[in-house]
Amino acid sequence: MIRKCLFPAAGYGTRFLPATKATPKEMLPVLTKPLIQYGVEEAIEAGMNTMAIVTGRGKRAIEDHFDISYELEHQIKGTSKEPYLTEIRAVISKCTFSYTRQVEMKGLGHAILSGETLIGNESFAVVLADDLCDAKKGVLSQMCELYKKYQCSIVAIEEVPKEDTNKYGVIAGNEIEPGIFMIKDMVEKPDPKDAPSNLAIIGRYILTPDIFDIIRTTKPGKGGEIQITDALLVQAKKGMVLAVKFDGKRFDCGSIDGFVEATNHFYTKSKKAESKK
Ligand code: G1P
Repeated sequence: MIRKCLFPAAGYGTRFLPATKATPKEMLPVLTKPLIQYGVEEAIEAGMNTMAIVTGRGKRAIEDHFDISYELEHQIKGTSKEPYLTEIRAVISKCTFSYTRQVEMKGLGHAILSGETLIGNESFAVVLADDLCDAKKGVLSQMCELYKKYQCSIVAIEEVPKEDTNKYGVIAGNEIEPGIFMIKDMVEKPDPKDAPSNLAIIGRYILTPDIFDIIRTTKPGKGGEIQITDALLVQAKKGMVLAVKFDGKRFDCGSIDGFVEATNHFYTKSKKAESKK
């Protein structure tokens, strides 16, 4: 049973400047909900109740979001606007939030290692909030089911056009069940000509806690950063790491195109739901 979910949230979000100058990129809303809240709701749906957030300077808004605002509660109580707070109130009541800061920006592997103090010695999930997923059964729920069976680290993957492999961690492996691969190779952001496949890792991971010791000894890789992809390859070679093609749709909200696509998708969905009422 996985209880904890780690959210690396220290990045600068430079692609969304100036919006992200004073607002964390994780707080950018798709419709009325910040990206990170979608991720937290996906973790809660998968049965998790402890959210561990790795932040950095200028990220205070995330802590305030997952807290009660007494002034707002007082203003809104008993008015027609109260339903707007229903979802965030539910989130706050179902789980706890703890925070630690990544003091230096040394890559995703380093961000995950910074979260060790909040995770301890147990398996945990990782959500990169700018990969927004919409699925009948949440992507983390799908991965938790697989974890129950195999008890090893798992990454979520999807097929991408070959020319896009340089934006992702890319895996190669043997398909042991339909859509489930035992990883043999993993490369961070390879040139299309060097990519071992077109199966790209998206921002959902389940990690066993031995990953922390592996990250500690992982040398800087692509871009001079400590890459979780490199640490996972070591884990795969020592034991077993799986990759799963999830059911559902994923939007790259770290890019303007993906963000607009996600907004349109959730807008159309909410209009459809409204018209059925
Ligand atoms: C990170 C990972 C990469 C993964 C991607 C998914 O890259 O390093 O392996 O494919 O997330 O979104 P980033 O997008 O943070 O550069």
